Amino acid sequence: MNPRLFDHRTEDAAALAALHATSFPDAWSAASFRDLFATPGVFAFLLPNGFILARAAGGEAEILTLAVTPSARRQGLARALVRAAAAHAEMLGAETLFLEVATHNGPAVGLYTGLGFAKAGTRKAYYAGQDAHVLKVILPLPNPPDFA
Ligand SMILES: CC(C)(COP(=O)(O)OP(=O)(O)OC[C@H]1O[C@@H](n2cnc3c(N)ncnc32)[C@H](O)[C@@H]1OP(=O)(O)O)[C@@H](O)C(=O)NCCC(=O)NCCS
Repeated sequence: MNPRLFDHRTEDAAALAALHATSFPDAWSAASFRDLFATPGVFAFLLPNGFILARAAGGEAEILTLAVTPSARRQGLARALVRAAAAHAEMLGAETLFLEVATHNGPAVGLYTGLGFAKAGTRKAYYAGQDAHVLKVILPLPNPPDFA
């Protein structure tokens, strides 16, 4: 199933807040999603069991959040969401894609490095006192490795 672009002008941000709450202890409210969509360049892609929120501006893009519901993990959904967001960001003029991820978040670090992201820096005490990696990739995302 392909992720679809979320239409924040007609769709209810409560759907994103509900998905976010399945994956983060500090859940973001529907109102905070609506505020984010008021920022230029913010967009989301949605699947029934996950979503990604990103922003593209000034030739750069950033992943703001990404969540897949626990029961739907390890099926490639997050990889599909990142690929959709990267392609859309590139279409909006972004040449690089960044994100911050807690250093202890093994699943997310594995996801991003597997897609070709590399470490571009560290932010100390970024998430509730935890350090975060800054990861970066030049768009377009590299093709998947050839396992043949
Ligand atoms: C991180 C998260 C989005 C991954 O979602 P997912 O749909 O399970 O990820 P995918 O199935 O697309 O996995 C793609 C790759 O990521 C890596 N990965 C994903 N989950 C992993 C895990 N639990 N352990 C190790 N590697 C993992 C693997 O390399 C995987 O490829 P493989 O399954 O072929 O080995 C999900 O675990 C999640 O929502 N976590 C809580 C919220 C969060 O941390 N968001 C990211 C913040 S930046």
